[in-house]
Amino acid sequence: MKLILLGPPGGGKGTQAKLLIEKYGIPQISTGDMLRDHVAQKTDLGMLAKSYMDKGELVPDSLILDMMENRLSKSDCENGYILDGFPRTTPQAEGLTVLLKKLNHNLDKVIVLNVEDDSIVERMAGRRVHLPSGRVYHIKFNPPKKHDLDDVTNEKLTIRKDDEESTVRKRLSIYHDSTKPLIEFYKNNSVIINGTQDIDKVFNDITKSLK
Ligand code: AP5
Repeated sequence: MKLILLGPPGGGKGTQAKLLIEKYGIPQISTGDMLRDHVAQKTDLGMLAKSYMDKGELVPDSLILDMMENRLSKSDCENGYILDGFPRTTPQAEGLTVLLKKLNHNLDKVIVLNVEDDSIVERMAGRRVHLPSGRVYHIKFNPPKKHDLDDVTNEKLTIRKDDEESTVRKRLSIYHDSTKPLIEFYKNNSVIINGTQDIDKVFNDITKSLK
């Protein structure tokens, strides 16, 4: 199963990807998590990406495409994967088409999560993350078992730097300009899911669409 999760920042891509991993046993490939890992390791890519990420801007396409070619060539991708946060621009989508052909991979479905901007600003304000694993919580909608601690490791949760309201609004505006056109790009192979419902209901709609 090879899937793309497409949707606005804070639309629930990471949350749904974690549930899909459990159900289908395929890896989540989140360009955001990969880039945050590079930032934490202070690699050359991480140092470059950080300046864009902190401002809520997109990291240049060429860097993302190189990173993804490397990742999708790994053996754990042979049976499938969930692309979360990639592609996000038309050049990235075109680059992915070329890459999939080269790797002889077929894309099964593009899942579009539809969520209005105002709900997203509320979601981002309450988001807490466990950075090493990418696990995501919300203080109201999906709280951890223990206050501010990751359910699995008991480590402290953090607030992402780019979750400040003004940065979120900028990310939303970039989403509308650069990423939303991909809904049209993938229109023959996509399903649109109402992402404003409860997390379980969204997941149920996604799995139904994959049957
Ligand atoms: P990235 O990490 O990909 O961020 P994003 O796409 O902006 O998405 P988020 O991770 O913010 O949100 P999400 O959709 O995963 O929502 P979540 O499940 O957490 O990218 C970060 C940065 O990296 C970019 O700005 C850019 O600089 C760079 N980058 C990454 N990929 C790139 C690329 N391909 N090209 C160029 N640059 C790139 O949910 C959000 C909150 O809502 C959580 O608190 C969650 O608990 C809660 N929630 C989830 N679902 C629901 C629900 N149904 N109801 C209520 N609450 C919910």
